[in-house]
Amino acid sequence: MPVPLLIVDDEAAHMRALCDTLQLEGYATTGVVSASAALAEMRGKAFDLLLTDLKMPEMDGIALLRAAQEIDADVAGIVMTGHGTIDTAVKAMQAGACDYIVKPFRMNQLVPVISRALEARRLRRLNKELERRILERTRELEVANRDLEAFAYSVSHDLHAPLRAIQSFCDLFVADYGAAVPAEGQTLLAHVRTGAERMGRLIEDLLSFARSGSAPINLRRVAMNELVGEVVAELGRESAGRQVDLSVRPLPDCLADPALLKQVLFNLLSNALKYTAGRDPARIEVGGELKEDEAVYSVTDNGAGFDMKYADKLFGVFQRLHSQAEFKGTGIGLSIVQRIVERHGGTVQGEGRPGEGATFRFSVPVRPGAKG
Ligand SMILES: Nc1ncnc2c1ncn2[C@@H]1O[C@H](COP(=O)(O)OP(=O)(O)OP(=O)(O)O)[C@@H](O)[C@H]1O
Ligand SMILES: [Mg+2]
Repeated sequence: MPVPLLIVDDEAAHMRALCDTLQLEGYATTGVVSASAALAEMRGKAFDLLLTDLKMPEMDGIALLRAAQEIDADVAGIVMTGHGTIDTAVKAMQAGACDYIVKPFRMNQLVPVISRALEARRLRRLNKELERRILERTRELEVANRDLEAFAYSVSHDLHAPLRAIQSFCDLFVADYGAAVPAEGQTLLAHVRTGAERMGRLIEDLLSFARSGSAPINLRRVAMNELVGEVVAELGRESAGRQVDLSVRPLPDCLADPALLKQVLFNLLSNALKYTAGRDPARIEVGGELKEDEAVYSVTDNGAGFDMKYADKLFGVFQRLHSQAEFKGTGIGLSIVQRIVERHGGTVQGEGRPGEGATFRFSVPVRPGAKG
């Protein structure tokens, strides 16, 4: 489709000459001899570009461009100006005209000016379209996040209630009729109860996974050694009575959400503790170093380790490389770690050897806008 141009010149002969030549160049031209006629045309039909004379009796080219852009904000403009009025042409640029051309000019001078103005118009529109799409996507994401939160809430609410009913009816049954139930029946009841408890944990874990993706990120400078200290203190209760050699090296600070990063450390260190059960002593080391814009931290243990063949499964939701009989767990801890680290613009990897231990390394930016 030929690009529609509107040409305004109070000298009818000049206007017609422009129309004819630009038509030959492949444009769909419409010519008028006054600003008011130009505005009337624009109200009836869309033009990509307005090529206007500067000096016209009822309204000059600059005022016309302003009025034209009120009708169609996207229209490109070129003002044709005489030699003595270059500074007025500059004003025209400021008014939003894309370009100007000094009269008299030859056609082979005008055509590139027109293509340039049309290209600028195309880029301006593309930019607007991209901005619009970003806004749209952001709104969609906000809605999706709200939906997810609502879903998480209803899951916790709706699934917990019947689960509690199962558990308490089990307890009631045992209390009222337990004596009459033979040992085999007692075992079955115990299985029902353990199953219900496990489902409760799964729901809780799924909820915290959902939250790790939707919680807002508040970036702060994080004193990593302090944060590790807090997590170690909290985990101390779990490892009470065990022989654990823990060494925490001096760690670089980073820029992260402290609450979310604490969750990362908690999950990695509780894994290190869990998968070293049976080691005497269990050895766990936390290290870290600066690498360009990132701090790279590591948690190493001398525990059960794992087969690198399945390394890609580590971070999947509910994916486990050890059986419940060996080590209890849901398989959500590392998926939360990965989600949080990636939301900060970093990455996480695991390295292990069966029977020899494992190392988990993750990176976090140290400066604003460094990554992600
Ligand atoms: N330090 C480790 N040493 C050996 N294997 C590990 C280690 N950390 C994780 N794994 C393996 O990766 C799997 C996934 O870990 P993840 O933390 O996601 O789940 P989990 O520990 O099984 O359960 P939970 O959701 O309760 O944390 C584990 O089941 C285990 O097989
Ligand atoms: Mg875990």
